[in-house]
Amino acid sequence: MANPVKTRWYKDAFIYQIYPRSFCDGNGDGIGDIRGIISRLDYLEELGITAVWLSPCYKSPNDDNGYDISDYRDIMDEFGTLDDWKEMVKGMHDRGIKLVMDLVVNHTSDEHEWFKESRKSKDNPYRGYYFWKKGRGKDGKKPPNNWISRFGGSAWEYDETTEEFYLHLFSKKQPDLNWDNPKVRKEVQDLVKYWLDLGCDGFRCDVITYISKVEGLPNGKLLGDDMFTHGPNIHKYLNELNREVLSKYDCMTVGEAAGVTVEQAILYTGEERDELDTVFQFEQQTGNAIMQIIPLKVNHKRTKAIFSKWQKGLYGKGWNSLYLENHDQPRCVSRYINDNPDMDDGLRKLSAKMLAVMIYFQQGTPYVYQGQEIGMTNTTFRDESDHVDIMSRNALKIVKKYAPFLKGFAMKTLQKISRDNARTPMQWSAEKNAGFSAAEPWIKVNENYTSINVEEAKNDPDSVLNFFKKLIALRKGNEIVINGTYDELPIYAESRKIYAYERVWKGKKLTVVCNFCAEDVPFDGKAVFGNGARGRVLLSNYAETDLNAETLRPYECIVVG
Ligand code: NOJ
Repeated sequence: MANPVKTRWYKDAFIYQIYPRSFCDGNGDGIGDIRGIISRLDYLEELGITAVWLSPCYKSPNDDNGYDISDYRDIMDEFGTLDDWKEMVKGMHDRGIKLVMDLVVNHTSDEHEWFKESRKSKDNPYRGYYFWKKGRGKDGKKPPNNWISRFGGSAWEYDETTEEFYLHLFSKKQPDLNWDNPKVRKEVQDLVKYWLDLGCDGFRCDVITYISKVEGLPNGKLLGDDMFTHGPNIHKYLNELNREVLSKYDCMTVGEAAGVTVEQAILYTGEERDELDTVFQFEQQTGNAIMQIIPLKVNHKRTKAIFSKWQKGLYGKGWNSLYLENHDQPRCVSRYINDNPDMDDGLRKLSAKMLAVMIYFQQGTPYVYQGQEIGMTNTTFRDESDHVDIMSRNALKIVKKYAPFLKGFAMKTLQKISRDNARTPMQWSAEKNAGFSAAEPWIKVNENYTSINVEEAKNDPDSVLNFFKKLIALRKGNEIVINGTYDELPIYAESRKIYAYERVWKGKKLTVVCNFCAEDVPFDGKAVFGNGARGRVLLSNYAETDLNAETLRPYECIVVG
């Protein structure tokens, strides 16, 4: 029910992202589903998380695993029914867990009724729901402008019926909605209200920075991004959605904000601006890859600088999202630490814990992606056919067509950054198919499931999972973490090996120290923690911690407060 009191609960939330296709299969067809999620609610409660972000579960032909929606008001057949969804929300709410749905409204599926109508004729009432344009060239068969789809190739598709092109910034089965049309904006408002009234508590807004395009859709620079990222009416449209619907509920929003700068994030998330509550920035990812396509060698100094810039920049002016993984990114241990599948297991556990400490004691809303809490790693692609994701398959298609000699390079690159790395089934146990499903899963299980899985982690007091439980409990309600200032300790500001920062609130302090290296590094414990060791060790990934130590051990992390 509508509730105008905004508690801003997201500031003290710990959000767990579920990618439903890969989380847990409840009906034995090899595909994760809502009944599977219901069966794991106790697990989520024990972990201590306070909200779930559920990737799309609406009706979809699954060209992009649910990010192509054909009916916004119903559940995908493979995932279950609306009644299952209601039971799931009730189960979550009974456990004090909120539900954040995925709002995918930059585009629909081409199988959505609106698009089916729209493509019928130029004067169809739904024509203006999308972007239709005449082609260029004598025969009108050249795309109307130079914009490139995120999944490769032109962002325009020719449609025989009316001999015009339609715009799709993603796959050709994901036509872009025209937000300049007030009817489209009203449709979005209505569907947002529909889910809020059914009990959902907020939205992760898919590629929200793309919804406003420059009038006339002119050519842009390079891939055309400057003509559709943070477009001319973006703030007006978000403000309208907030005013008309979101402001009337105690809900939260997080915008997926490709290309966002600190200055822009303040405009999106400033409390008095009534647009979004928080955004996912991508600078931390592009610091590791060019345009998220070509992986770069991780440079910890750069990573630190990016985090510090966002922490300092949004303090008191906006709100950060703290994440290292999601369904589009590689696993963080593989990306930041070591992508050798034979990595030593002790080091894997130490580094997974260290990365968690590094990110989650900063200011913002923390997100943990399914499997991150047990330290899952990238998978191994043995063969081209192991790639399931549309983005990877398209990339391989393009390479094979235009530069077949680059195929080996493309395979190596995909090994590092393919989105499928994060989409392999959740590893519940050492049983067949990692306990994810009784049937052959829709995507191959990571080969390491017999040693990395929830059952094993539950029984190991030293596991990444048990560390996450402690960390989440420690963070909950902690005023210093929620409100405190953030500063890197000058002594290690230039270090590539050590990340040390402190948070201060009302005279109380938390100090966080992380070693990025697989070996001992010299460290001045006395200088960092104060002579004589004041403050308690609140969390650490070694059994014993000496605050006067002169070295940090491999991937050691310490939180003192
Ligand atoms: C961002 C989503 O996270 C990604 O998985 C999807 O492919 C695109 N948006 C298109 O919806």
